[in-house]
Amino acid sequence: MTNLDAYRISSEPFYRPVESEISLFTAAHKSRMPVMLKGPTGCGKTRFVEHMAWRLGKPLITVSCHEDMTASDLVGRYLLDTDGTVWHDGPLTLAVREGAICYLDEIVEARQDTTVVIHSLTDDRRILPLEKKNEVVQAHPDFQVVISYNPGYQSVLKDLKESTKQRFGAIAFGYPSPDIEAEIVAREAGIDRRTAETLVRIAERSRNLKGQGLEEGASTRMLINAGLLVAAGIAIEAACQVAMVVPITDDPDLRDALSGAIAACL
Ligand SMILES: Nc1ncnc2c1ncn2[C@@H]1O[C@H](COP(=O)(O)OP(=O)(O)O)[C@@H](O)[C@H]1O
Ligand SMILES: [Mg+2]
Repeated sequence: MTNLDAYRISSEPFYRPVESEISLFTAAHKSRMPVMLKGPTGCGKTRFVEHMAWRLGKPLITVSCHEDMTASDLVGRYLLDTDGTVWHDGPLTLAVREGAICYLDEIVEARQDTTVVIHSLTDDRRILPLEKKNEVVQAHPDFQVVISYNPGYQSVLKDLKESTKQRFGAIAFGYPSPDIEAEIVAREAGIDRRTAETLVRIAERSRNLKGQGLEEGASTRMLINAGLLVAAGIAIEAACQVAMVVPITDDPDLRDALSGAIAACL
């Protein structure tokens, strides 16, 4: 039993391929190339990496990045214990030692000085210096870094350094075509195909309002939430309000516009 058993994915996560992302990722994985999954929130990036880890038979260690995250949160730290101070590997170090895919979700949320700890791991050195411990860990041959990146939210202050970006191969994700998206929503929410198609039409209209006050239109995730409410007996109009309107805007005009979009599709 290794440390990583808890990170192995035992049953296949459902993933409906949209383009050639499975073959692209598989090819990148052969050389353990760092991969960036780029696209809006709720479009399938996390599900994809879970599916790929399962497909490739690799453990997956996911870290949700946030602005208070420090390099020590990734790498590890000394903690006080009854025997004195004991070193605890962070999630990145665990993945490096044991050969997991390390998925840094929403990497731009982390500060740039945190992000640079992956630099020596994402070029041909493949090492992780643990400065506080005075140790340099050589990455396990199976170790791979995957990051997700939402191009919509970035400001100049909150972007990846050019030197970080250039280490990655990037796969672009978007919302799938209506046909595929309806298939995903029907399956994930357990609703019939026609209802799923209606939800997808509403989403398309909502996405057209992006930029006109809406930061993002309804994501696939939101459609699935609406579908789950329908499956639980809520009328579709109310389900759409709860899952696709109220969460994303407080502006009365935008709420009206979205409600109009819903009514037009029913
Ligand atoms: N191509 C797909 N195949 C299967 N499920 C998908 C797909 N795209 C999106 N989903 C569904 O949408 C939900 C949100 O996707 P997720 O991977 O969490 O988004 P992201 O990580 O891009 O924010 C998933 O839980 C899954 O139910
Ligand atoms: Mg995600």
